[in-house]
Amino acid sequence: MELQKETIGVMPRIGDMAPDFEAITTKGKIKFSEFAKDKWTILFSHPADFTPVCTTEMSGFAERQEEFNALNTELLGLSIDSIHSHLAWVNNVREKTGVYFDFPIIADIDMKVSKLYGMLQPNESETAAVRAVFFIDPSKKIRLVMYYPLNVGRNMDEILRALEALQVSDKNGVAMPLNWKKGDKVIVPPPKNLDEMNERLSDDTCERTDFYLCKREL
Ligand code: BEZ
Repeated sequence: MELQKETIGVMPRIGDMAPDFEAITTKGKIKFSEFAKDKWTILFSHPADFTPVCTTEMSGFAERQEEFNALNTELLGLSIDSIHSHLAWVNNVREKTGVYFDFPIIADIDMKVSKLYGMLQPNESETAAVRAVFFIDPSKKIRLVMYYPLNVGRNMDEILRALEALQVSDKNGVAMPLNWKKGDKVIVPPPKNLDEMNERLSDDTCERTDFYLCKREL
């Protein structure tokens, strides 16, 4: 049976404005439109507190929080758990491993935010959010979306790499090739007309495979 949109929510797409919401978090109440002003946000969900894969992932975010902050980015977690569960889990992980989740985690017990962001995917689970990551820029536009299933943890190197790639692309008006990482050459936007194509064919400042594929140092 196909579930209705009102039951499961919608999946926001790249380029959409991030839906606004108010929520209770481990750092107090937030209104998303006022959260992380002039900064990027990584909004991510995990299926449940006190579960093994989620504990490794949350610890990964916590251990690399300074790298996110250095990229002018705030972390905002979420699961369909109560605030009491979140507090107990944060404290438990700190006691057991010394890792402290020092960023807000939304207690989405009524599934309001999960549904707004398409994190509830009922053929995977009707009660737990999937592992979603939304990359949201300072204008609150959604720039990149990842959805992972319950049984596969995400890759923190890739999340940081993709965030940096978006920011470097924005700043320099270039695109990022396969496996791009900081320091690698970037892709010069391809020509849009014959004049630009002819110009590109005699441009020796970039590494040219052909007019449509040229790379340069930043
Ligand atoms: C986990 O984080 O280990 C997990 C959570 C929900 C379902 C399956 C695994």
